[in-house]
Amino acid sequence: MKIDGNDYRTIWFDNNIVKIIDQTKLPHQLIIKDLKTFNDAVNAIKLMEVRGAPLIGATAAYGIVLAIIENNDQSFLKIASDKLIASRPTAINLKWSVDRMMKKLSRVNSNEIFNIALNEAKKICEEDVQFCKNIGLNGLKIIEAIYKKKKSTVNVLTHCNAGWLATINWGTATSPIYHANKKGIPIHIWVDETRPRNQGANLTSFELNEEKIPNTIIADNTGGILMQRGEIDICIVGTDRTLANGDVCNKIGTYLKALAAYDNNVPFYVALPSSTIDWNTKNSRDIPIEERNSNELSHIDGLDDEGNIKKIQIYPKKSKAKNIAFDITPAKYVTGLITEKGICEASREGLNNLFK
Ligand code: MRU
Repeated sequence: MKIDGNDYRTIWFDNNIVKIIDQTKLPHQLIIKDLKTFNDAVNAIKLMEVRGAPLIGATAAYGIVLAIIENNDQSFLKIASDKLIASRPTAINLKWSVDRMMKKLSRVNSNEIFNIALNEAKKICEEDVQFCKNIGLNGLKIIEAIYKKKKSTVNVLTHCNAGWLATINWGTATSPIYHANKKGIPIHIWVDETRPRNQGANLTSFELNEEKIPNTIIADNTGGILMQRGEIDICIVGTDRTLANGDVCNKIGTYLKALAAYDNNVPFYVALPSSTIDWNTKNSRDIPIEERNSNELSHIDGLDDEGNIKKIQIYPKKSKAKNIAFDITPAKYVTGLITEKGICEASREGLNNLFK
């Protein structure tokens, strides 16, 4: 997708170096960062220079490639894969991708391991692009149906950033939006700011602006009144892990938006590639929910008058703060899951019909 009119992907491999867009600097600075070592990849995930479930998975796959360049030894690879999986535990794509790489590389001899690993990492990225494109084409049908009935601008609410910056290209929740825009359907996006890290304001609004899609940032608590006023036709969000029973784990605040949507009869859809389905965890209480440093709440980044990015404290110094990064939306509040294979009910039966 576009930044400043130029086509970008979020991650690529060039001359034994992994290139990423450093998302901690957006929207103020576009910095392409080099990941040269396995530890660079772990840190990029931990520090959220790359984030979003599919992109974390892709970065981890390239992290394995970097580990092979550093030390072509199976026991080092095992340590590297464990470190990668632990770097951000909630998004299942990370484990999915590392497990897939390790399975591919087991019993491969040392002179072909690098090429096989690199091809697999590239394949994971290409698959994600295709899956996200298909999610868009499937989700487009829902937006088209709303437009056919309403005959005026379709208003979509989204939370956090499940846009192309969270994937390799297209995004999950934003892919139907980009496809609707390409088809000429008038569309406007309500973008939840998404405290504490403001991925909605900093990333989703930024990428929609670059694609010239009308959007308005709202404080996270605003969605409810907009739904009561009939100003939201549909919610589409992403997910970091969706259980086989249809329960959805996503950025903190998703659950409250789903409750408001349920109360106001606003359809609430979750867009995801199959790499985000956790077929094994039975109960959503067993999902490891990341709890991050409280300074993400108490401090905020912004541009000063000289155009430098500055961090300032916004809470009283003596106050405690708790920073839970994800929540669970029970399946009963989800209208449907938009996947690369089609749209299904958020239920075991719905997912089984599409994927098993
Ligand atoms: O903490 P983040 O920014 O990685 O959280 C991202 C989200 O919650 C996204 O909605 C999710 O990863 C889906 S990305 C297509």
